[in-house]
Amino acid sequence: MFLNRTRLVSASSWALALSAMLAIALPVHASGGSRWKSHFPNVELTNHDGEKRMFYDDLVEGKVVAINFIYTSCPSSCPAETAKLAQVQQILGDAVGRDVFLYSITIDPENDTVEVLNDYRQKFKAGPGWEFLTGKQEDIDSLRKKLGLFIEEIQDDDGDHNLSFVAGNERTGQWVKRSPYDNASSLAHLIGYKLTGRRRTTGVLNYANAPDVPVYTRGEYLFRTRCTSCHTMGGGDMVGPDLLGVVARRDRAWLERWLKVPDQMLAEKDPLAMELYEKYEQLAMPNLELNDIDVRDLMEFMRRDGRPLASAPGAIPSTEPTAALQ
Ligand code: HEC
Repeated sequence: MFLNRTRLVSASSWALALSAMLAIALPVHASGGSRWKSHFPNVELTNHDGEKRMFYDDLVEGKVVAINFIYTSCPSSCPAETAKLAQVQQILGDAVGRDVFLYSITIDPENDTVEVLNDYRQKFKAGPGWEFLTGKQEDIDSLRKKLGLFIEEIQDDDGDHNLSFVAGNERTGQWVKRSPYDNASSLAHLIGYKLTGRRRTTGVLNYANAPDVPVYTRGEYLFRTRCTSCHTMGGGDMVGPDLLGVVARRDRAWLERWLKVPDQMLAEKDPLAMELYEKYEQLAMPNLELNDIDVRDLMEFMRRDGRPLASAPGAIPSTEPTAALQ
């Protein structure tokens, strides 16, 4: 995970590194400016509209950005990661494209052409300010190295090419590496507020206004951290189907197996799996490597139709509520 990060880590980053398991940071320079120009390769990339973009000059200089590396044929981690970014985009609204910029760069430029990326982008309903990019393999590799997101190649193990993305403010030199399994609200808060220095305009940061800390069962916690980027419980379809009532609707054994090995069931052309796959724009549900206990707890949570414990809010909406105090 941490190969090639040495130049990115500073002594002052330890607090951040401890607070987020995957954090790294560059030292902050008060004067900002193009101090980091020499750090980032100014390679030429092409976006999903076929437009040329110089990595440093056009994409990063003077901006707050979140960058992840994906490939569209990736079975598990990339769709989950991309869906999480989609959720971050939804939370940040029109700040994306104005105050913050999101980039998903393919590590498989041979297969991920401009058309393929554009198609993938639409599946996730990516809006303005979120670009999908391709380029030369060696340029992309060098970017990944500079950003500390390079580990050995695609598909060398289970397709987990590197479960993380970086977010940073080029002007201040703050860069943070995060897991896409972080909660979308906290990622949005990090990117949209902490890194930009913007202040929230809604809600007074006051303990009196702080919501109760909700108490989640393990199943609900798993659902909120692993599934809500693609699913709701009673909030309508997102990238994946609304899961309200799914336990009553489906055969239990089918459902349990689906949660564990959806990729395998699609490969076997399980009829129901294929039907859902076609209906949901041929975006495969990722194999989230859930174990038996995870599946049991998720089934229990879904069986209750997502009804929360007494203190928690109602149906799980498509975006998680943002806590007043973070
Ligand atoms: C990256 C998006 C994504 C994530 C994350 C995801 N799913 Fe899905 N899920 C889908 C899609 C898309 C489908 C529709 C089938 C397909 O296209 O493969 C689906 C289908 C399902 C179905 C079948 C629905 C039905 O009507 O039978 C269940 C159940 C399900 N997902 C549960 C979960 C659970 C539980 C989690 C979290 C542990 C989860 N999913 C995480 C995208 C996702």
